[in-house]
Amino acid sequence: MRLTRAATSTLLLASTCRANDPLTPDKLEADIKMQELQHVLWNLNKIANDNGGTRAFGTPGYTASVDFVLERAQTRFGKHFNTYLQPFNHTFEQTKSVSVEGPKGETVFVASPQYNPGTPLPGGLTASLLNTPVDDATGSMCFESQWAGIDATGKLALIKRGTCAVVDKVKFAKAKGAIGVLIYNQEPGTDFAVPTLGEANIGLLVPVGIIPLEVASAWIPRLAAGQDLKATLLVDAIVETRESWNIISETKTGDPNKVIMVGAHLDSVQEGPGINDDGSGTAAILEIMGSVKQYDGYPHRIRFGWWGAEESGLIGSLFYTNNLSELETDKIKYYFNFDMIGSPNPMFGISQYINSGIGPELLADYLESKGKNVTYAEFDGRSDYAGFVELGIPTAGLFTGDGAPWDPCYHQACDNLDNINWEAFTVNAKAAARAVGVLANSLVGVPPRQRSKPLLRGRDARADSVRRRKALGEYARDKKKVTV
Ligand SMILES: *[C@@H]1O[C@H](CO)[C@@H](O)[C@H](O)[C@H]1NC(C)=O
Ligand SMILES: *[C@@H]1O[C@H](CO)[C@@H](O)[C@H](O)[C@H]1NC(C)=O
Ligand SMILES: *[C@@H]1O[C@H](CO)[C@@H](O)[C@H](O)[C@H]1NC(C)=O
Ligand SMILES: [Zn+2]
Repeated sequence: MRLTRAATSTLLLASTCRANDPLTPDKLEADIKMQELQHVLWNLNKIANDNGGTRAFGTPGYTASVDFVLERAQTRFGKHFNTYLQPFNHTFEQTKSVSVEGPKGETVFVASPQYNPGTPLPGGLTASLLNTPVDDATGSMCFESQWAGIDATGKLALIKRGTCAVVDKVKFAKAKGAIGVLIYNQEPGTDFAVPTLGEANIGLLVPVGIIPLEVASAWIPRLAAGQDLKATLLVDAIVETRESWNIISETKTGDPNKVIMVGAHLDSVQEGPGINDDGSGTAAILEIMGSVKQYDGYPHRIRFGWWGAEESGLIGSLFYTNNLSELETDKIKYYFNFDMIGSPNPMFGISQYINSGIGPELLADYLESKGKNVTYAEFDGRSDYAGFVELGIPTAGLFTGDGAPWDPCYHQACDNLDNINWEAFTVNAKAAARAVGVLANSLVGVPPRQRSKPLLRGRDARADSVRRRKALGEYARDKKKVTV
């Protein structure tokens, strides 16, 4: 982690400072170049490749991503921006290895859910399998009544997946004495979604393996015939608090009481390098920053935020918004969020809410001038704008779609340099740059902050607001992972 780096005079000399060259939307737009955006994403992809294929919260790939942004914000552009790191802590979880050995000593395909507790090491847990009844109509082992009369003491419970959350089945199994659980899928094959057990359940569960239907189907008749089949489950997992950082950087130019803020998350998921999600937003705002530094004379301050641990439930951005005093909140006149703006088969999505004012229009005007078919969407609380919306700050954002058909590599190892539509990405980055250029000069069309929201009135407003923001994070996190 580089907190500070001596700026070399060579680099400062190399940067062209055009004093008294006013910032305009046209100039910002023109400064955004596909080649430079490619260069940033190439670097982020390399950072992931050099660090085990990920830039996720709590990993060296995230730290290297922070260093990469700081090298510009703090060092190369240091003359024009005030930059600081905002540290925060969050629970890091990772399954380092998982394995299941069947009754004949055979190796069985197995996946580990998120927040899986570890087994004893190095041997894992070896125990007799306990087959449990299947109920496809209401869900297998989802209700207390389905467990009546079952004693799982010292066993590995074998339970069919589906209908209710995996964690619910695991809680019942543990209550009945099981020392581990093997959940088998409803559909054949090994290409299935890995569920989360939920951060809230840390310390409350027994280790779990998710195995294929075919494997369980071979065991079940033998168990039904009364055979004692033993299996071994090994989970080598980490659950611990780790430090992470938001990077906040703002222009030295402009009224500090009138701030236009732009944000993108800097972390990826553990499964991949996060080049579209959200290397694209990260690169766009980094390039806007590189453009802004050349100009002067704009009345409003421009603040950039690179958020940490977004993929863990908007942790960094909610930490930032939760810590803003009323005074500091009032200074933020607008927040733009850019999360996934280069999907390979893009929609041109503009997220808005009731208090977005002119922001969506600014973004749409440019996209439509380039012949794009814009889709408006209400904020669904799934990205870093959530905390800003909650504070009533006018907010808008761009997105190009997650999952098939827009981004089939969403949250996967293939979210790499091949997972970007460069033309769409560049057009979106230019739209973002223009919108920043407009609001840096004028707040016409920007509504005031919405201070009083029905849910936040009254004596319990403060506690309520903290609870709601926490719920927003949990909602976002759960939306990103399946639980069933
Ligand atoms: C994070 O946790 C460490 C260790 O417990 C502590 O020293 C540090 O102050 C914490 N940081 C924040 C921002 O809470
Ligand atoms: C929270 O905000 C206050 C003032 O607004 C600031 O001094 C402090 O450093 C912030 N805390 C963190 C952890 O960023
Ligand atoms: C624009 O998108 C909408 C739905 O997102 C679709 O119904 C419409 O046909 C599209 N228009 C054009 C011109 O592509
Ligand atoms: Zn994202």
